Amino acid sequence: MKKFDLIATSAMGLEALVAKEVRSLGYECEVENGRITFQGDELAIARSNLWLRTADRVKIKAGEFKAYTFDELFERTKAIPWEQFLPENAEFPVSGKSQKSKLFSVPDCQAIVKKAIVERLRKHYKKTSWFEENGPLFKIEVALVKDVATITIDASGSGLHKRGYRVDQGEAPLKETLAAALVMLTNWTPDRPFADPFCGSGTIPIEAALIGQNIAPGFNREFVSESWDWISRSVWDQARTEAEDMANYDQPLEITGSDIDHRLVNIAKENAFEAGLGELVTFKQMRVQDFTTQNQYGVIVSNPPYGERLGEKSAVEQMYKEMGKVLIPLDTWSVYIMTSNEDFEKFYGKPATKKRKLFNGFIRTDYYQYWGKRPPRENK
Ligand SMILES: C[S@@+](CC[C@H](N)C(=O)[O-])C[C@H]1O[C@@H](n2cnc3c(N)ncnc32)[C@H](O)[C@@H]1O
Repeated sequence: MKKFDLIATSAMGLEALVAKEVRSLGYECEVENGRITFQGDELAIARSNLWLRTADRVKIKAGEFKAYTFDELFERTKAIPWEQFLPENAEFPVSGKSQKSKLFSVPDCQAIVKKAIVERLRKHYKKTSWFEENGPLFKIEVALVKDVATITIDASGSGLHKRGYRVDQGEAPLKETLAAALVMLTNWTPDRPFADPFCGSGTIPIEAALIGQNIAPGFNREFVSESWDWISRSVWDQARTEAEDMANYDQPLEITGSDIDHRLVNIAKENAFEAGLGELVTFKQMRVQDFTTQNQYGVIVSNPPYGERLGEKSAVEQMYKEMGKVLIPLDTWSVYIMTSNEDFEKFYGKPATKKRKLFNGFIRTDYYQYWGKRPPRENK
């Protein structure tokens, strides 16, 4: 099969995790700011869309070149073999962005790229009139950074955070890709208990369950590249069969989510049900202050309120204090908390083992990590 230059786009700070995922699919890759590049065939397009838990999108790099003038942009775009990607009836909107480049007018860059593709396709398909663009969708982007134009085709469609299970959400749901990253940054293994005492709409427990049973996050959705005729149906069938074979539905899990707000608990239950995990994750209404457990060596991953809204800060800080009182004594548990509150450790009552800077959208947060005692090694 033909090889393509592929890009998995990543939120700021998650590049290393995305790269790890790409490598574990079997593709060597390079890490850049916000993107991981690798080479792969049609099966790689299907696999990466289905499996990447922490990437935002998968794109095909159609071309990359220096462009200081509109003429250069036009000619180099026209030189790309667009007919290999776009059928005669393709719908191909062009979006753009430009940073630190001579060609800074984004609308002009978009129009030129569009014109260059039209000209190339007209010649190939021997067309004199306009293209109807009533066929499969190929979203094209021209991104200029320091005078280098990268022209990509989006192979995902909706962003990869759209797993297909979210029926409803609370006020501040975590993006599924970030929730998966939070779980993957811990020492949790599926044989250990897992809890999220601020579960809201259930994103973290649901992502943990998908990871725990090795279920491909994109298994329940479609991708725009499934409508392209040059990726044969059998490639997608093969990727989905592989995913089905790799899922470990027999892996028992002990995952619970709780939240003070019973309405959110119901939403979390619905979402988990939609994800096909209804029986696997337990949700209940409970305040974090009432968290108790008989289990040992568990892992807590949570995204509590940050207290950023006016008047909320001191109540949230008081709640962090009460949370420390119930969680710190659980010395075999590891606790991972993401918040933007810079004094979290002071209120919680214990310095973190480790901190990691993460962005929740545009909010800068820290991921406070408290490592619990290690489970005893089993005698062999
Ligand atoms: C930032 S949201 C969590 C969002 C969640 N990760 C999601 O993806 O939907 C914080 C949650 O903490 C809950 N909460 C606030 N105070 C609480 C408390 N004392 N105990 C338990 N939950 C609390 C809120 O109801 C809210 O759902």
